[in-house]
Amino acid sequence: MTKKALFIKTYGCQMNVYDSARMADVLAPLGYQLVDTADQADMVVINTCHIREKATEKVFSDLGRLKPLKARPQGAILAVAGCVAQAEGEEILVRAPYVDIVVGPQAYHRLPQLVAEATRAAGGVLDTDFPVEAKFDVLPRTTDAQAVSAFLTIQEGCDKFCSFCVVPYTRGAEFSRPVAAVVAEAEHLVSLGARELTLLGQNVNAYHGVGDGGVWGLGQLLVRLAEIPGLVRLRYTTSHPRDVDDALVAAHRDVPAVMPFLHLPVQTGSDQLLQAMNRRHSVDDYRRVVDRLRAARPDLLLSSDFIAGHPGETDADHQATLDLIREIGFAQSYSFKYSARPGTPAALLTDKVPEAVADQRLQELQALLADQMTAANQASVGTRQPVLFEKLGRHPGQLIGRTPHFQTIHVDAPPRLIGQVVAVDVVAAASHSLAGRVVTVDPAERQGVAA
Ligand code: 5AD
Ligand code: SF4
Repeated sequence: MTKKALFIKTYGCQMNVYDSARMADVLAPLGYQLVDTADQADMVVINTCHIREKATEKVFSDLGRLKPLKARPQGAILAVAGCVAQAEGEEILVRAPYVDIVVGPQAYHRLPQLVAEATRAAGGVLDTDFPVEAKFDVLPRTTDAQAVSAFLTIQEGCDKFCSFCVVPYTRGAEFSRPVAAVVAEAEHLVSLGARELTLLGQNVNAYHGVGDGGVWGLGQLLVRLAEIPGLVRLRYTTSHPRDVDDALVAAHRDVPAVMPFLHLPVQTGSDQLLQAMNRRHSVDDYRRVVDRLRAARPDLLLSSDFIAGHPGETDADHQATLDLIREIGFAQSYSFKYSARPGTPAALLTDKVPEAVADQRLQELQALLADQMTAANQASVGTRQPVLFEKLGRHPGQLIGRTPHFQTIHVDAPPRLIGQVVAVDVVAAASHSLAGRVVTVDPAERQGVAA
């Protein structure tokens, strides 16, 4: 089989990262091998994100830049995948008629057929079905060596319909993979070198997969996955505060592999806005969920997403958000300016927040959240942390790892420690990362390790 070069550019969330890897897996039997640049590629896939307008705009500027690839004698196949493909497939083919394939997140297992059709047909082919056959049932197993920390999608789609969010429309209804399929993929990823798995889902803690004896929740699944030999750490993202049940809280208490860090978006600290956003919980509900989790795992650190300038947001709402951030304390967070998305209920609301006000509020949120992140990092200086080393650092002799609390840490250490959990003394903190020193190493290698 002739070898062909495949370049995939990934935007957006971790699930897109996972999906891009799966697209490479389905195309591998056709001879496609991943390369690092588009220049010489025989096929280019842009895996897109539709969550905010800015992310969406990138698709068209990328396509403009890629168009010359089509002019080569053996023109490259150009494919647009992901959530923009799902939401704006027709428009892509109109605005960029040189695109060969538009494929949604639920149809990318059909890429081999789409490539065949695209090579035969003039004009682009579009597949944005939510097919009846489950994508996960037909995706091939990956054969690539895995990073120390690997992603595993266990749940996809969302039935929550927050007012501002396109995800329920682009990813479709909630679907949970069966327990046996998740366990098999987890074992496979570990056999390929993964030591940490991050379980992915748009609403990952709404997981309800068919397993032995009935339907399993995320808590039960975590207990089972933690039994896999060689798997040392488990994380999951993204969670919804409404779906934190007792079994999940118990997993944080009882399963050492479940890391004490949780991304639990609250979006706003105002009840009035939570209601306008259709989040289906109150600020107090959020406090109670956090209390239960912290009672189970006192060292748990939290992160959240926040939106500044959702329609109807008053100054008092914004202050309430700042108050909640101060009250809860977040170790890391993401904050975004509200972006009206076509087809969502919030886009129809008329009480819009002026741009300048939203900008100002976003800055205030980001300043407070950055302070909290720095404080959380500072607080870990002087502590001893089990660090999972993931890869080589930028400086010679340096490795990059993560603490249980998901903090990035730079440590001078030998490459053989990649993939291992090693005791590290945290010696310094910057705003986004830590520096540390290995506590125990072979005496022979002592010299090689920074004192
Ligand atoms: N505008 C701004 N931020 C948004 N998010 C989702 N939709 C929008 C939107 N329309 C944010 C939410 C969500 C994160 C993934 O992206 O905070 O938790
Ligand atoms: Fe979007 Fe809300 Fe679903 Fe999260 S829970 S994916 S914010 S609709």
